[in-house]
Amino acid sequence: MIYLDNAATSLIKPPSVIRSMNENTLRNSVNAGRGGHIFSRRGAAIIAETADALAHLFNISNPERIAFTSNATLALNMAILGTGAGGGHIIVTSMEHNSVLRPVNLLGNYTMVQADSEGFIDPDDLKKAIKPDTVLIICTHASNVSGSIEPIAEIGKIAREHNLLFLVDAAQSAGVLDIDTESMMIDLLAFSGHKGLLGPLGTGGLYVGERARLTPFITGGTGSSSERLVQPDYMPDMLHSGTLNTPAIAALGTAVKFIKKTGTDRIHHEELSLAKELISHIEKIEGVQIIGTKDMKKRNGTVSFTIDGMDSQAVAELLSDKYGIAVRGGWHCAYQAHKTLGTAEAGVVRASFGIFNKKSDAISLANAVREITLYKKGAVQ
Ligand code: ALA
Repeated sequence: MIYLDNAATSLIKPPSVIRSMNENTLRNSVNAGRGGHIFSRRGAAIIAETADALAHLFNISNPERIAFTSNATLALNMAILGTGAGGGHIIVTSMEHNSVLRPVNLLGNYTMVQADSEGFIDPDDLKKAIKPDTVLIICTHASNVSGSIEPIAEIGKIAREHNLLFLVDAAQSAGVLDIDTESMMIDLLAFSGHKGLLGPLGTGGLYVGERARLTPFITGGTGSSSERLVQPDYMPDMLHSGTLNTPAIAALGTAVKFIKKTGTDRIHHEELSLAKELISHIEKIEGVQIIGTKDMKKRNGTVSFTIDGMDSQAVAELLSDKYGIAVRGGWHCAYQAHKTLGTAEAGVVRASFGIFNKKSDAISLANAVREITLYKKGAVQ
């Protein structure tokens, strides 16, 4: 099987991460920070070590400002419901995942700024949407549909100039694109651990910068300030309700070390060259449309396309069952992004490359797509 669904999760992990998961499950399935005994203390040290590694990767000066969550969706909900609870106005983009749009819609007071037909946000449009009661701007770093990389640093500057908080959804960029919370002026960074960061499923996190004030919506079970009926107001305890998954967080730390050693520049470059390879073949096939920009400097390793007259889910199933290639069809939990890109009717077939894919994977997918279009036209019996 050829796995090309790294935007959903990176199925193939570095061997060191698998070893770390196994060893830590065996030796460190401990309740971190709950008790003074050796196991609890060791767990707390493991959690702190992974937070240190992530802080280094994202240029975060205080690792204690990072809370671990079970995925990016939870991190985004914590950030959005936590900052928007007072009813302030929120600005979002049409390229957001529904992990952003649903909590924002739940709060009700928001403006959705349209991206262009290739999925790019114009920072000036965000600026124009600012109102007197705006509290937060939210933007994805990279679209999970078009692969467009958004101008995060420019948006961060606008947010800071207007004294607003800036939340970045890094689900599709953490571990692949350079993220610098300081220079990009990011106040809240939500990331998943199991995609580009190459860690285990069930890992993710939220960085909460010093400017951000959150109201936690999950309370209790922090293992600290037990004498009080209110949730601790300090990080990371404020967002660490319930027992953490110590072995998975340990393995995430190992994964981050792998990323640092390999280098995000190299990872991005390699994934992009596979995307380029795929695009160069399928753009020549009659009836195939590539979604998003062809300017490789402005995209990541996610390539979405449509085949005229074919349902994207049906193509994805065919690719899996007949050709042994795993891609994702449909709407990718981002219907507004599909509306923006003009693909709301039938969705798209999405191939997303990871660091362990090879050139031959891109070529195999291109060959399969060519054959599918020929079958459709009745040219192959
Ligand atoms: N949000 C993930 C994706 O795009 C699951 O596939």
